[in-house]
Amino acid sequence: MEKRELQTPAILVDLDILENNIRKAQSLCNENGKQLWPMIKTHKSIEIVKMQQRAGATGFLCGTLDECEALLKEGFDNIMYAYPVASDANIKRVINLAKNCNFIVRIDSYDSARMINAAAKSAGVRINYTIIIDSGLHRFGILPEKIVAFADSLKEFDALNFKGISTHPGHVYSAVKHEEIQYYVNQEKSAMKYALDALKAAGYNPELVTSGSTPTFYKAVYDENINVFHPGNYVFMDNTQMSIGIAKESDCALSVYATIISHPSETMFICDAGSKCLGLDKGSHGNAAMKGYGYVKGHPELIVSTLSEEVGKLEVVGPTTLKIGDKIEIIPNHTCTTANLTSYLIGCRGDKVERLIKVDMRGNSTPKNFT
Ligand SMILES: Cc1ncc(COP(=O)(O)O)c(C=O)c1O
Repeated sequence: MEKRELQTPAILVDLDILENNIRKAQSLCNENGKQLWPMIKTHKSIEIVKMQQRAGATGFLCGTLDECEALLKEGFDNIMYAYPVASDANIKRVINLAKNCNFIVRIDSYDSARMINAAAKSAGVRINYTIIIDSGLHRFGILPEKIVAFADSLKEFDALNFKGISTHPGHVYSAVKHEEIQYYVNQEKSAMKYALDALKAAGYNPELVTSGSTPTFYKAVYDENINVFHPGNYVFMDNTQMSIGIAKESDCALSVYATIISHPSETMFICDAGSKCLGLDKGSHGNAAMKGYGYVKGHPELIVSTLSEEVGKLEVVGPTTLKIGDKIEIIPNHTCTTANLTSYLIGCRGDKVERLIKVDMRGNSTPKNFT
């Protein structure tokens, strides 16, 4: 089937670009003796996890426990959950995961550690954990200079097993140009080095030193201390990565395919894709360098200026040949959001439709919790 024959709107994935992005990140890890444990919340797709594994990924970082459980069901090992847990229901899920695979949870508070330890003790399991280091995002984490005191405070919890330290330099997304990225890479590397050195000096032996974000990955992968990397968005890239010089249009695998359905004025077109395909994202942590809600491939004269739920307004800011009935491909600002708005991606190679890729790890509350 030809791409042109598809119904619109449709969420497309260019398979050549996807495969290339996966291969490129994996090669960088291999060449530098690093493990790649991709953050899979970007795509939430078992099929793409399998592509990453075939390329050489040795573990996976999950953004939800649903993702962790889906990976377990598929027989994957080395499953890490990115965020702390602090409710009985979710601690129970953590315990079940730990019983059935090499599972690692992240901790950044004494109270969460205490709750997990108590439940693990009564279930007769040990739970692996890494401590989250705050490398500048100021979301989760322990400041590097406080790491030893915090690690010491968890020593009393004998059902917990210290595996190492993790961070996510997500504040890199406030960069507005490529030259600024090195600053965030330096913060990521120096926070992890400080914490690692302090822990070693205090007698700890962290096996895992893990970090990752797509913008910092391509420079941080050469670091001598970080041994596991967790980029997520790198598989698809998006307009955010383009705006900070991490990706070119030709590196962006995911796009929203739409038809021009109206031309109400000289300076305005309307397409049949809106916020329910593109999302209203302006960048994950406040990127000010993007205009509108996506980049229309091959049409720099268009700005996706306003989105209703099912349709979008395109403002014309330069000479254009666009007309009603034309098809456009919009690279979303944030593809992690777009992938979460569909049950399947349409995998294309060039102009041909090749296969559907299920987005089968969505949702964040499994029905079994209600029975
Ligand atoms: C904890 C954590 N690690 C890794 C990532 C992946 O970052 P990116 O999407 O920039 O690749 C994220 C994404 O938000 C994250 O929250």
